[in-house]
Amino acid sequence: MSDHIQPSLSLLPRPASASASEQAHIVTVGNMNGANRLFGGLLFSWMDETAGVTARRHAGTHVTTATVESLRYLCPVVRNQVLMCEAKVIYTGKTSLEVLATAWLEDFDGTRTLAADGRFIFVALDENGNKVQVPPLLIETPEEQALFDAAVERRKK
Ligand SMILES: CC(C)(COP(=O)(O)OP(=O)(O)OC[C@H]1O[C@@H](n2cnc3c(N)ncnc32)[C@H](O)[C@@H]1OP(=O)(O)O)[C@@H](O)C(=O)NCCC(=O)NCCS
Repeated sequence: MSDHIQPSLSLLPRPASASASEQAHIVTVGNMNGANRLFGGLLFSWMDETAGVTARRHAGTHVTTATVESLRYLCPVVRNQVLMCEAKVIYTGKTSLEVLATAWLEDFDGTRTLAADGRFIFVALDENGNKVQVPPLLIETPEEQALFDAAVERRKK
């Protein structure tokens, strides 16, 4: 891939709140694996899609998934449950950005249980597939600062 990096249209810092996204699913019989639980590969694709929407919103251009880190399936998900996938940007580099994706089981009373999480790293691309710069993340809260700092530390290893 070319190393010539084009700037995108707007590189003004953007808050995570501007690109955060959420996608709701009701788990159906067709989503099951042989053990009558939600097929993990399908949940992964739902999380990747939600994270990709967030990454596109932040970057303001095309993105491609470069890697996925620390994907965890934390509890079984069964038929007819409501699953909410959420995504928010936690780190931006020059052409890459990291999105924290979470999947929550939602009860009738609104109680949520974390079912899965993972960090999706995307690279921003122009229409020709060349890497482009991403707007920096505008950090608004101490929690966001902690997530950003942790991402920086991971990149030092
Ligand atoms: C991802 C891809 C665009 C990277 O291209 P590349 O020219 O090797 O990119 P670079 O090595 O210059 O890295 C670009 C950025 O991504 C980051 N990056 C790339 N691979 C990474 C990884 N495994 N982990 C963390 N960051 C990564 C780099 O740190 C760099 O970040 P920065 O610009 O913010 O500093 C390229 O490998 C590709 O197109 N892969 C296929 C992606 C795809 O098709 N995904 C869909 C699923 S199959």
